[in-house]
Amino acid sequence: MALLQENVEEVVRGAVEAHRDDRGALLPILHDIQEKLGYIDATVVPILAKELNLSRADVHGVVTFYHDFRKNPAGATTVRICRAEACQSVGAERLTELVKSRLGVDFGQTTPDGGVTLEQVFCFGNCALGPAVQVGEKLYGRMDADRLAGVLEAGR
Ligand code: FES
Repeated sequence: MALLQENVEEVVRGAVEAHRDDRGALLPILHDIQEKLGYIDATVVPILAKELNLSRADVHGVVTFYHDFRKNPAGATTVRICRAEACQSVGAERLTELVKSRLGVDFGQTTPDGGVTLEQVFCFGNCALGPAVQVGEKLYGRMDADRLAGVLEAGR
């Protein structure tokens, strides 16, 4: 769904206003915008640059540097794989490779049918039950690729 330009401007200005006095306000502002719009649309960059008196390149650089910021709308379901140490030690990397190749996407990307967005996370606080994976709002422990495929299939 296309975003209305007036809505984008309103959301950006609201986020700037809410964080104007914060130090290092750009990151919280971007998080705020992503929460409201679902992602950082390309049209956000020039509006935000103007509001904060920064160059477009500065804002664009921050959006692309941090993996937290989505450049496109998320798919129907978001799968987040934990890649922190405890999960890595019990197979999170292998799981990651299998999931990436099955879905045909990398972190930060959405399957062409718009069904699944894949993201990485660094610790859910569920370390004893790694590999930990969140599907939508639900957290799963001891996940493997087949079980994840089943969870995704059941959600369709
Ligand atoms: S290391 Fe994966 S949940 Fe903590």
